[in-house]
Amino acid sequence: MTDPVLDQTWACELRCSATGTTHPLNEPAFLSPAGKPWLVQYQLSQAKGEALRRALPHRPWSLWRYRELLPVIDATETARVDLGEGGTPLVPLRRASSWLPEAEGVELLLKQEALNPTGSFKDRGLSLAVNRARELGARGVQLPSAGNAAIALSAYAAAAGLPARVAMPRDTPSVVIDRCREVGAEVFTEGSSLVESGAFLAAQGDHGNFWNLATLKEPYRAEGKKTMGLEIAEQFNWQLPDWILYPTGGGTGIVGMAKAFDELEGLGLIGSKRPRFVVVQMNGCAPIVRAFELGTSHAEPWQAPKTKVWGLRVPIAVGDFLILDALNKTEGRALAVDEDRLPEVTERFRTHEGHLLGPEGAAVLLALEQLLSDGTIEQNSRVVLFQTGHPANY
Ligand SMILES: Cc1ncc(COP(=O)(O)O)c(C=O)c1O
Repeated sequence: MTDPVLDQTWACELRCSATGTTHPLNEPAFLSPAGKPWLVQYQLSQAKGEALRRALPHRPWSLWRYRELLPVIDATETARVDLGEGGTPLVPLRRASSWLPEAEGVELLLKQEALNPTGSFKDRGLSLAVNRARELGARGVQLPSAGNAAIALSAYAAAAGLPARVAMPRDTPSVVIDRCREVGAEVFTEGSSLVESGAFLAAQGDHGNFWNLATLKEPYRAEGKKTMGLEIAEQFNWQLPDWILYPTGGGTGIVGMAKAFDELEGLGLIGSKRPRFVVVQMNGCAPIVRAFELGTSHAEPWQAPKTKVWGLRVPIAVGDFLILDALNKTEGRALAVDEDRLPEVTERFRTHEGHLLGPEGAAVLLALEQLLSDGTIEQNSRVVLFQTGHPANY
């Protein structure tokens, strides 16, 4: 018999990440009155944690296995929009010392997010955001994007029966534009950066109740990204790794995973130990790295961002203070890597490990190399590397 606490959401309200004011879960929400992200709060207990731990081995590997820790009210299989997102493997890189000698004695694992339905980890966040938008009465959905989020939004909106509009910078690769159009989205290529595409979309208005699902400007994408942290904890049998290296733009992944670990602790499934987060950005656009080095709590916008790694061409992040807080609390690091070295590391990895790597994943490898060379990551450490998107999306 199933435990009566299971199969319904444990979410209870939204709380402003800066001021702590609250907002009801059953009403639409974007940014808080303070202009900061709302975060979903859950009612957690050891008994619920124990019930979930017992149920998990019997559930399919998709992010919906954690439905009690997700804010969708009716998450039954027939009601939810679900393209099979999440449940990605954590692949051991057993040949690492052959392409990176310093990795000898270090356990490396690749979180293979390219296996999500549209080829990137954006599926997790947009699944949750679209499910909630539909549940709360949106007539359509829209967002500005560097590329992968637009592909994901277009697919989830199609599956939800909602019209979608996406705005991307003018130099976005045609493969991205085609993928959005193929599933029926309306595509705008406007501006030379994500910020300008966002301004264009905002200027169009809400187009008759189209909800804007831009990164951290609504509370539910972070909930989807949170499932990466839930999966990592479960895949390591509730023992968290020592390091997590993550290619960071808007930072929803870091914010989500930090939240996931706090919630698992609230359920008694893990203790107080946390992985040390590493924010990886490109040397042509590194606002979070600069703020971390300066020791500030917010990041100044990066002027004239210049990188071909579209996912990391994010000059300003509404959740900057949350990312920096997660770095500081976990004694993390923030590194900007050299764009010119991406082809070389991608090739070395591909020919030794057999995995195709997107440029954001390659950036993570460059950061790893640096942290191993300077002794920051020590022998016997367990390190998770994020491969966030498939190179076919470029
Ligand atoms: C493949 C890829 N990796 C990383 C990022 C950055 O993700 P986040 O905005 O969650 O920091 C993006 C964002 O577009 C992306 O497409």
